[in-house]
Amino acid sequence: MANDNSRFQAIISHSKEYGFIFPSSEIYDGLQAVYDYGQWGSELKKNIKDYWWKNMTQLHENIVGIDAAIFMHPTTWKASGHVDNFNDPMIDNKDSKKRYRVDHLIEGKADEMRSEGRDDEADALLSDMDRLLAKDEFDGLRQLIINQGIKCPISETANWTEVRQFNLMFSTQIGSVTDETNEIYLRPETAQGIFVNFLNVQKTGRLKIPFGIAQIGKAFRSEIVARQFIFRMREFEQMEMQYFIRPGSQKEWYEFWKEERMRWHLSLGIPKEKYRFHDHVKLAHYADAACDIEYNFPIGFKEVEGIHSRTDFDLKNHQEYSRKKMQYFDSDINQNYIPYVIETSIGLDRTILMVLSEAYAEEDLSTAEKQDSRVVLRFPATIAPMKLAVLPLVKKDGLPEIARTIMDDCKAEFRCFYEEKDTIGKRYRRMDAIGTPFCVTVDQQTKTDDTVTIRYRDTMKQERIPANKVREIVANEIG
Ligand code: GAP
Repeated sequence: MANDNSRFQAIISHSKEYGFIFPSSEIYDGLQAVYDYGQWGSELKKNIKDYWWKNMTQLHENIVGIDAAIFMHPTTWKASGHVDNFNDPMIDNKDSKKRYRVDHLIEGKADEMRSEGRDDEADALLSDMDRLLAKDEFDGLRQLIINQGIKCPISETANWTEVRQFNLMFSTQIGSVTDETNEIYLRPETAQGIFVNFLNVQKTGRLKIPFGIAQIGKAFRSEIVARQFIFRMREFEQMEMQYFIRPGSQKEWYEFWKEERMRWHLSLGIPKEKYRFHDHVKLAHYADAACDIEYNFPIGFKEVEGIHSRTDFDLKNHQEYSRKKMQYFDSDINQNYIPYVIETSIGLDRTILMVLSEAYAEEDLSTAEKQDSRVVLRFPATIAPMKLAVLPLVKKDGLPEIARTIMDDCKAEFRCFYEEKDTIGKRYRRMDAIGTPFCVTVDQQTKTDDTVTIRYRDTMKQERIPANKVREIVANEIG
């Protein structure tokens, strides 16, 4: 299992240098674990959202999408169990006064072991941790940290407090809540917006079980973080889908969605061996079965998506707290019941990091005559931020005007980029660096035979095609 920290750092630098991802409010030295997407990052993000949304809603006839508010009635989080159970064991370093999530500290140690080729020891450490976490054995977890000589990265000491539980929800105040306290939470998952709207959507959409409700949106968690870029953020986006089913059919649908989601991941062109399933040992408070889809990031195999069998936990609790019936009448079996739920929950930012990690390549192009290299982002054309660059070879002789007509023909259909500055070689390299799959160059020959050169990012192969075919050829490739 390669743990390639220098590759990870190179991806972070490249993302910043080429307008994908910036530290939030960087002019004020940034805000820990919060990031902004730049001009190409936001295009990539939007394309990934669209790709997921189309797959989930358009290609599954029985799944519809919603867009619920971030703020929800505070009782939502009581009913969902987040107020009482959304805790993580944390430990403080007495010297630096910094607080860490216990599992992150131990996972960090395991990553360090792997980078030294001590994979067996890393596996043993993680299984010890899983066993202790499953039983809430906080003394044992503290002892494990001490026995492993894990130190605070700031103070570099092992002067640790006891392990204690801390809630991960952010709260703020809202004027209109008439409760004693007007404290309100920033949602830690988008799923609850789906549960509280379950009946609204089912009734107005005349939906029959099994059916799904999908949503993309922001979620917030007070993560205690250690340098993991957009892998672990305090403000992030989730793409979630709750699939409502008949009680008793959860095993079958759980397996169905594991397979279906893996199929989606593979459709991104990422090879099978870069993924694995990881079954949860310690189940979240709402689940009767759960697993993660993990991707082999440069920082090792880590979770990108969770698939959870949530039983009727959420709807049942919302029924109890709201005193509103959350039942569904199943006319096929003539019964009323609270549906069970299978959830698929993928982090959008983690998907972006996965796609960037997979796409990033440093290539040596040196020949006997000269040294050369390039950095290229090999994004699938469907999600690439920019699909086509239109480049007049020189800035005169009527070439820019011809290039502009190609731009005008294509730009309503897909995202195009026009540039006339610098040598053509430099312009190709800049397009490689942001992952543009196609460049077309307009040259003197174009004026005589109406052909342009198309250059393919991945192979760097070039060929002549009719100028009036550019739109059709690129549109076919991006699907
Ligand atoms: N509704 C279920 C749920 O929220 P989760 O496993 O806690 O489950 C689902 O989160 C996904 O959200 C994760 O697989 C991950 O991709 C993403 N995610 C969770 N916490 C995150 C964070 N702090 N930063 C970025 N992504 C996060």
